[in-house]
Amino acid sequence: MRIAMIGSGYVGLVSGACFADFGHQVTCVDTDAGKIARLNAGRMPIYEPGLEELVARNVEAGRLAFTTELAEGMAGAEAVFIAVGTPSRRGDGHADLSYVQAAARDIASNLKGFTVVVTKSTVPVGTGDDVERIIREANPEADVAVASNPEFLREGAAIADFKRPDRIVIGVEDERARRVLEEVYRPLYLNQAPLLVTGRRTAELTKYAANAFLATKITFINEMADLAEKVGANVQDVARGIGLDNRIGPKFLNAGPGYGGSCFPKDTLALVKTAQDHDAPTRIVETVVQVNDQRKRAMGRKVIAAMGGDVRDRTVGVLGLTFKPNTDDMRDSPAIAIIQTLQDAGARIVAYDPEGVEQAKQLLSGVTYAPDPYAALDGADAMVLVTEWDAFRALDLARVKSLLRQPVVVDLRNVYRPDEMARHGLAYTGIGR
Ligand SMILES: NC(=O)c1ccc[n+]([C@@H]2O[C@H](COP(=O)([O-])OP(=O)(O)OC[C@H]3O[C@@H](n4cnc5c(N)ncnc54)[C@H](O)[C@@H]3O)[C@@H](O)[C@H]2O)c1
Repeated sequence: MRIAMIGSGYVGLVSGACFADFGHQVTCVDTDAGKIARLNAGRMPIYEPGLEELVARNVEAGRLAFTTELAEGMAGAEAVFIAVGTPSRRGDGHADLSYVQAAARDIASNLKGFTVVVTKSTVPVGTGDDVERIIREANPEADVAVASNPEFLREGAAIADFKRPDRIVIGVEDERARRVLEEVYRPLYLNQAPLLVTGRRTAELTKYAANAFLATKITFINEMADLAEKVGANVQDVARGIGLDNRIGPKFLNAGPGYGGSCFPKDTLALVKTAQDHDAPTRIVETVVQVNDQRKRAMGRKVIAAMGGDVRDRTVGVLGLTFKPNTDDMRDSPAIAIIQTLQDAGARIVAYDPEGVEQAKQLLSGVTYAPDPYAALDGADAMVLVTEWDAFRALDLARVKSLLRQPVVVDLRNVYRPDEMARHGLAYTGIGR
């Protein structure tokens, strides 16, 4: 099949490359000329494990191409996916649909023959109706069906997630669209990935419900961690104790500094706004959003407390900046609020991250970047682990101790063992234990 992917970011690029790998003919389109130029030169605009090789292989095989020209990308395409950003709208937290709407308008004028336009971006319920209206108004002659196909991949494991998804959700109001999308996903279908076909609005809501539920699970265990600290319990054992119950499940029960990233914060907020607009408020999710917002700065205060309450003119070595390991994505990373809290209290920050520094530089000011983890700790008054990159799991603790001016370690991901830290003479603070 011929597929056009509009938007070549984390989702569009990975999805496009994976579709090409299934044997489809894919053109990824983006309005960012610099991004397309990099891709055409074989350089990835993002860090995602395995992506460069996957893209190279499919470009080489002639199945994957990149362009800024929508007409060129859409030529002969039976399915046109919209995978542009839907960030929080400034001021009110609703999803900003301007990129989706602009893409719909541009697509409308390039439609030829029956085409399925598929929204892969995470969009509020009813956006499919809106996309359809925009296209029909702009091009009343077009033979088009609009479908929803929310994406559930995780950055850092995006290729594996896309190729072996827990499920594929397709929202259609049109039988022809259903047939086209079943054909698009047939290679996965053969692999037994469950394909759930629903109405379009149901598919849109399913994506938000999934992210809100996961954000709730994280926030729940974070609150249990705070309580565990007060009552002298160990949250990791609590998580294991409840996670072994099949009805609960062990995933997303790692207490930490609060969820971040390009999806959970904006999607929980957008769901809250949609629900309020429809007079069906989602109070649980509203609370999750508030609790998580407060948690990030609270983690900064936790570091200050571990350092004795005063960090003015003292140096904090921060390990890990991205919102999770194996991505360079800094959007809404807890590291931002934590570092700002420390800077507000007068601390100097020296940070190291394996992949996130370029993006961090655009979001943080006054931070010194170290070339490796040990350099970030040299002469620091504390080490703070914010993101659990594998590279930090086996640090030479004797060396850490010798580099730090004060032997204070705050581990916001519970990566280290308290007894081992104590053995190395490090004053250790974890989460909820
Ligand atoms: N990042 C994730 O892990 C993830 C997972 C599931 C779903 N999503 C959803 O997928 C969508 C895309 O997210 P992302 O992280 O890939 O965003 P991104 O910002 O990385 O990429 C979006 C791309 O779209 C391009 N773009 C914007 N308007 C365009 C237009 N009119 N025509 C062509 N290109 C255009 C931008 O230049 C950018 O490169 C969002 O709705 C997001 O919520 C993201």
